[in-house]
Amino acid sequence: MTDTAQTAPTGVPEKWALGETFVPKARYTDRDFLQRELDKLFTQVWQIACRAEEIPDPGSFHEYRVGKQSIVVIRQRDGSIKAMHNACTHRGMKVVSGCGRAEDGELRCRFHGWRYKLDGRSTFVPSREEFAERPSSEWALRQVHVGEWGGWVFVSMAENPPELLDWLDPLVTSLAPFRLEDMRFRWRKRTTLPANWKTVIDAFIEGYHTPGTHPQTMRTAETPAPPAHPAKPQEYVYAPYTPTMTYPNHSRFVYTQRPDTGDKDAARQKAQARPEVFANAMQYNYKEVGSLVTERDYRAAQQLRTMEPGEVPPFLLYHQLCEELALAEGVKFPQMSMQEYFGGNGDWHIFPSVVILVEKSCVLGYRMLPDADDPDRCVFEMFSLEHFPEGEVPETQWQVFDRWQDHDGWGELPTQDLVNIADIQAGMHSEGFDGMWLNKAQEMSIHNAHVIADRFLFGDGS
Ligand code: FES
Ligand SMILES: [Fe+2]
Repeated sequence: MTDTAQTAPTGVPEKWALGETFVPKARYTDRDFLQRELDKLFTQVWQIACRAEEIPDPGSFHEYRVGKQSIVVIRQRDGSIKAMHNACTHRGMKVVSGCGRAEDGELRCRFHGWRYKLDGRSTFVPSREEFAERPSSEWALRQVHVGEWGGWVFVSMAENPPELLDWLDPLVTSLAPFRLEDMRFRWRKRTTLPANWKTVIDAFIEGYHTPGTHPQTMRTAETPAPPAHPAKPQEYVYAPYTPTMTYPNHSRFVYTQRPDTGDKDAARQKAQARPEVFANAMQYNYKEVGSLVTERDYRAAQQLRTMEPGEVPPFLLYHQLCEELALAEGVKFPQMSMQEYFGGNGDWHIFPSVVILVEKSCVLGYRMLPDADDPDRCVFEMFSLEHFPEGEVPETQWQVFDRWQDHDGWGELPTQDLVNIADIQAGMHSEGFDGMWLNKAQEMSIHNAHVIADRFLFGDGS
């Protein structure tokens, strides 16, 4: 575990103060706390607005809404991207809504018809001479800092944010071999959930819940479609060990074997050395997650299951097969050493609001955004990004569901996570619950996110 030893800012009210492994529930239930997050965290921190592919052409724009703030990110004629507060400098009306393309290379406020260039400069004000004189910069849409990494467009409303790539450390180095910027959406879904945005984030940045919530993932030795009845205590010896690594601005966890299982797990480890057992787990992910394993990787797993056990571990064989298939099918596949793979593979929390699980072929991602008023609601997005052969990127749109239950295509594993969410949030309101006590090895990603947040909420963010 990386020890970041961050010092907490002073002046955190008692009801919101973190312990060493304790997080008070009020941080998830108080309206005041949500307001502080919206006012002091989301107006300062670098955050993902959209994928660069969502604004492909000059004039393409995307409205990013968080709380009561609306930012427009817009592709310029030279291919660069600018971001601006989405508020007309006349009487404040939103200039754009949703996504689209600026007609005639200009943005037009439909209230009184003021016009702006793609970079926000004012180009037309009817009867301008009837207004008081102001410096020309004040007629322009107010700029927001913008940056790009990994194919995402980031924005920060802070006056002087840190350099984006510095802020993102160590993701930039660790994930460079995976070339996330060359990935494109396979699918993307959005809904709202009856829980605080952090309740949902927390369910995706630790692996300790895997045997409890996803018991079938420990049972792939016999079949790619294992049963999901609750695990008995003795089955927990098969649980993956998912240590969290915490960094100054982000965190990560990885799936490993428990260091302390000794030979209790020997029978299973022997089973895991059989190619078809590893193939089962990969095929399960393709069918019931719809990411982590692409359709092409699924075919590689089918080949793997016909192979005899040998010197080379199935895990390595699988990676070789995936790469060979991808290259044969025209994918500019990210080739890397196993050391580089292990340096970037796993589950990353891009603080504050995005989680990505990174594989060579694809990324499974989540974004959770706070509601503008209600600490018990949030926006939830789930998406898969993949490396496609050139010219074969599918057309995709955000599929939007009012309630997550309105869609039956989440897959078994994500459904298990979603089923929990409302009850986690409901339990937090219990008079019999004060806050969460975190596992020191496998849940400190949650604690770390609160420590980072406190720098913004009660300090100046640095
Ligand atoms: S509010 Fe935009 S033109 Fe008047
Ligand atoms: Fe889960």
